Amino acid sequence: MINTTMVIGTQWGDEGKGKIVDYLSRDADYVVRFQGGNNAGHTINVNGDIYKLHIIPSGVIQGKIGVIGNGCVVDPEVLIEEINALEERGIKPRVLISNRAHVIMPYHRLLDGAAESYLGGKKIGTTKRGIGPCYSDKIARLGIRMSDLLDREQLKQRLDVILPIKQSLLEVYGVKEKLNEKEILDRYIEYGSQLRSFIVDTHIILNQAIKEGRSILFEGAQGVMLDIDFGTYPYTTSSHVISGGGCIGTGVPPGFINRVIGVMKAYTTRVGEGPLLTELKNGIGRYLQEHGNEFGTTTSRPRRCGWLDLVVVKHACILSGLTEIAVTKLDVLTGLDPIKICVRYSIGGKETDVFPPYNVDKYVPIYKEFPGWDELPSKPKDFNDLPREARDYLKFIEDYLGIPINIVSTGPSRRETIVVSR
Ligand code: IMP
Repeated sequence: MINTTMVIGTQWGDEGKGKIVDYLSRDADYVVRFQGGNNAGHTINVNGDIYKLHIIPSGVIQGKIGVIGNGCVVDPEVLIEEINALEERGIKPRVLISNRAHVIMPYHRLLDGAAESYLGGKKIGTTKRGIGPCYSDKIARLGIRMSDLLDREQLKQRLDVILPIKQSLLEVYGVKEKLNEKEILDRYIEYGSQLRSFIVDTHIILNQAIKEGRSILFEGAQGVMLDIDFGTYPYTTSSHVISGGGCIGTGVPPGFINRVIGVMKAYTTRVGEGPLLTELKNGIGRYLQEHGNEFGTTTSRPRRCGWLDLVVVKHACILSGLTEIAVTKLDVLTGLDPIKICVRYSIGGKETDVFPPYNVDKYVPIYKEFPGWDELPSKPKDFNDLPREARDYLKFIEDYLGIPINIVSTGPSRRETIVVSR
């Protein structure tokens, strides 16, 4: 029997996927990242112990095998640091890295920063981790892959071709830094030697494991609105965040994915630039930011906050074929009255519930109001333990999306999680 679950962010990332993945990891043999790199930040709270991971799949904290698929981009320096930091805390992470995953090189980080400065007022607001330039090189066939780090001659041949192009590009952006081939070669071959035992054909291992009925959890990073094709382009990340990206980014065929959980925060947040139609630049926005501790795990930037936008989540449902929803941070809405949900947009006298491809800022959200609630019980175990107003809020979301809400998170710790029984 196939036993696979994929977890996808349905908004702009930071939906609390780390907690849901950590919760589901208990039953998984493998936890797999399939896109993105150390632009992601997952915070996991294990009985008060906080772990912040950027590239290693969070399931390793539970002793699971963490796989970094071919669709990821890997900064080896960050990966080695994360492995060492976990080892210092007594966790020996079991990690497998696809030999086909692309490597974030020093010039990618430089170019990410340079491109943002060049764009000035029109910048994307990237995490400056070199993600976009690394994916650009992959598609331009100018990338370095993990397997290249295992063979000095191969890496040198690649750098001979690539470095002059990157040096010229840096000059175009006015960056004075000189790329030293010998230094880069030595450093990256050293990373390769440290990571050698982890670098394997992950697609073979995963497909075999699925056939053997092992439980596989695919851990999405970012959220559907940051998808390179279906997000708010160009204010997106550079990878395929939707569930299809999970197949491309692991080599696991679509027929092998049987459960896709969309993680949805009970309101909306976004870091970086780009449209956010339900944004609240007022006291309510600040309330959500403070009560939800909405500051980026990766860059510490304050997150922009707003009401839940179901046009966005419906977009995610369609694109990722979600089979169920996990709602997070319901507790953060406690104390607000009324609470609003955006159900449609209007433009030029017409209404739509389809997310537009461009000119997003010209659309106006149409809201439905819900009565708020004063408090949530601490550590509720059952859906019916929630106040009626909170249940009505969740039931409306379920009806709107036509997908069951199977998990509700009411606080950061594992114990503050309701699994809805049906
Ligand atoms: P990049 O992925 O660093 O190129 O950044 C592109 C956009 O995606 C920026 O708006 C970032 O703030 C956003 N972004 C990237 N990773 C995450 C994440 O894990 N959570 C939320 N936003 C992210």
